Amino acid sequence: MPDLTTQRVLITGARQGLGHAIARRFLADGARVCLFGRGGMEEARRALNAPADSVVAVTGDVRDSADLERATRVMTEAFGGIDGVVTAAGITRIAPIATLTPEQFREIMDINVTGTWLSVRAAVEAMPDLGGWAVLLGSVYGEGGAPDRSAYCASKGAVHNLARALAVELGPRGVRVNVVAPTGVMTPMIRDLIARGLYNQAGVEARTPLGRMATVEEVAAACAFLASPDAGMTTGTILPVDGGWIANGFIQPSNTNR
Ligand SMILES: NC(=O)c1ccc[n+]([C@@H]2O[C@H](COP(=O)([O-])OP(=O)(O)OC[C@H]3O[C@@H](n4cnc5c(N)ncnc54)[C@H](OP(=O)(O)O)[C@@H]3O)[C@@H](O)[C@H]2O)c1
Repeated sequence: MPDLTTQRVLITGARQGLGHAIARRFLADGARVCLFGRGGMEEARRALNAPADSVVAVTGDVRDSADLERATRVMTEAFGGIDGVVTAAGITRIAPIATLTPEQFREIMDINVTGTWLSVRAAVEAMPDLGGWAVLLGSVYGEGGAPDRSAYCASKGAVHNLARALAVELGPRGVRVNVVAPTGVMTPMIRDLIARGLYNQAGVEARTPLGRMATVEEVAAACAFLASPDAGMTTGTILPVDGGWIANGFIQPSNTNR
């Protein structure tokens, strides 16, 4: 298991889904975490059933830099500082370009891209003079296209290249920046799409060489590795947790993943 006992970690989008599972895994590996999200954060904190001195919860929006700076101040008061950030706040929307509105496109870019940039910015400002890390939640859709996902693909492609740019820029400060790029994972986001008839789970599984979706635990394990000293020489990488999806070259009939 990666050793995260010295790590003080800001996790955005931590109320549910991947962010919450990553918090659970990081706490098990010894980290202290700050859960950050738009609401229900006290309930999220209680659900983790962790010692009070290892978890704090902050309500805020990743589009608001003041909220993120408040979270880093809370971490400094509670833990004495911050060593890393996991950006798991994100949204998706599935619609053809003709029906996706400009407001919806901007909302996805604002939360997934600007929100990620603001989260890393606030965290890095509060990190030690030398060292630190960021793990950004990307997606297989950051590495290729798919129908009805123009905004999501654009946003995740931007996140992937943001990580490369920041790895180069922040490397001399000792800050590592990497992406975890999952295939489909059964979180509230995907359950909601399935309920609305917008996600073809069987289609996703059929074109994944390993034949299934990823689990939240598998994604959290990849994040824990990248956060740990074991990944001390790893920066600017995209780590797929995708059962071979990207390696398979996005080969798909155009209607299998609607
Ligand atoms: N699940 C997948 O199949 C999958 C695959 C690849 C990548 N990803 C990526 O992984 C990340 C997490 O996805 P998920 O499946 O865990 O989604 P989820 O179940 O919908 O959880 C996302 C969390 O992000 C929070 N959030 C959204 N907008 C926010 C904002 N403006 N400020 C603060 N928090 C915000 C949500 O808050 P509320 O609770 O208030 O809504 C929610 O708690 C996303 O970036 C997603 O694109 C997911």
